[in-house]
Amino acid sequence: MKALLSTAPGGPDTLELIEIDKPALGKGELAVRVLACSINYPDVLIIEDKYQMRPPRPFAPGAEIAGEVTEVGEGVEGWSPGDRLIAVTGFGGLVEHMTLEAARAFHLPEGADPVAGSALLMTYATTIHALKDRGELGEGQTLLVLGAAGGVGLAAVEIGKAMGARVVAAVSSEDKAEAARAAGADATMIYGRAPFDKEQSKALSAAFKEAVGKGGADVIYDPVGGDYCEPALRSIAWEGRYLVVGFPAGIPKLPLNLTLLKSCDVRGVFWGGFAMREPARNAAHVEQLLDWWQAGTITPRIDCTFPLERGGEAITRLAERRAVGKVVVTMG
Ligand SMILES: NC(=O)c1ccc[n+]([C@@H]2O[C@H](COP(=O)([O-])OP(=O)(O)OC[C@H]3O[C@@H](n4cnc5c(N)ncnc54)[C@H](OP(=O)(O)O)[C@@H]3O)[C@@H](O)[C@H]2O)c1
Repeated sequence: MKALLSTAPGGPDTLELIEIDKPALGKGELAVRVLACSINYPDVLIIEDKYQMRPPRPFAPGAEIAGEVTEVGEGVEGWSPGDRLIAVTGFGGLVEHMTLEAARAFHLPEGADPVAGSALLMTYATTIHALKDRGELGEGQTLLVLGAAGGVGLAAVEIGKAMGARVVAAVSSEDKAEAARAAGADATMIYGRAPFDKEQSKALSAAFKEAVGKGGADVIYDPVGGDYCEPALRSIAWEGRYLVVGFPAGIPKLPLNLTLLKSCDVRGVFWGGFAMREPARNAAHVEQLLDWWQAGTITPRIDCTFPLERGGEAITRLAERRAVGKVVVTMG
């Protein structure tokens, strides 16, 4: 079978399409023919050894897949060959065949598109955990989403609306603002491209304040970080919750006096850790997401698809900040 492998640390052009044996099926596992693998920002980082997880090389990037079961391992119940599934595997998805722990898999609803299915779990499950458990977002509250046309960003716009919030989407271009509006954002604002000097940072803070309105943002969902963080925090409401989700623009530092002045919380979000520690609560979230998906309340927006041999280009699209929605690699 074909696999797109990282054989040495480096950018997407270092990935190699290599013919390897299919993996052996273990106890408690499913053997899967991969239909689609969606790209997430961690794929940009993991191949350069800049991610929190460092798999031994060679490894295939690709953290989440949709696939078809070809064989069921010993001790696995509830799955048969031919069943379709979605799963987050962390890495290893840019291949034609893989094995995965059955406990990680969820049934792809009958007739559902595997390309969209492959783009559902990581972004939306992160976001429902972030907004419900960490952000305690309430109906009628104001939610500010940074990077609102990216993978987790668009999920936050849709889930924020599903939870009854007023959603303000912040993005870097008019195209991206249009995508956020199409996903249901009530208002949009366009920010510049970092780095920012002191004056630009002040102006950005004023722009965030104007966009969220007088009371401030009750919840801020930040999957961007860098120079965007402090100006955004300055627009938070009294007792607001600032959700730390990701850092494509860099890891920011914050003056803690800002949290005192607004009596607000800065809260970390680590979905992978949550899903491992609390599988039952995560499964309940996924059930909710599948219901919302079937009802049309949420719909993964597919930016574009690439075949496996061009999987590196899919990762480059995210690294270059060009994706609007999800980029997906499809297997033959
Ligand atoms: N905490 C968790 O559990 C968890 C789970 C999943 C993902 N994440 C993290 O969430 C972040 C976003 O992931 P994603 O898959 O949604 O990525 P994505 O689709 O690429 O979206 C990231 C967004 O960040 C903005 N951005 C700002 N500066 C950027 C830069 N220098 N390079 C690239 N993008 C930049 C872009 O929007 P604008 O151009 O509009 O600014 C882009 O749309 C990543 O850091 C990822 O690791 C965290």
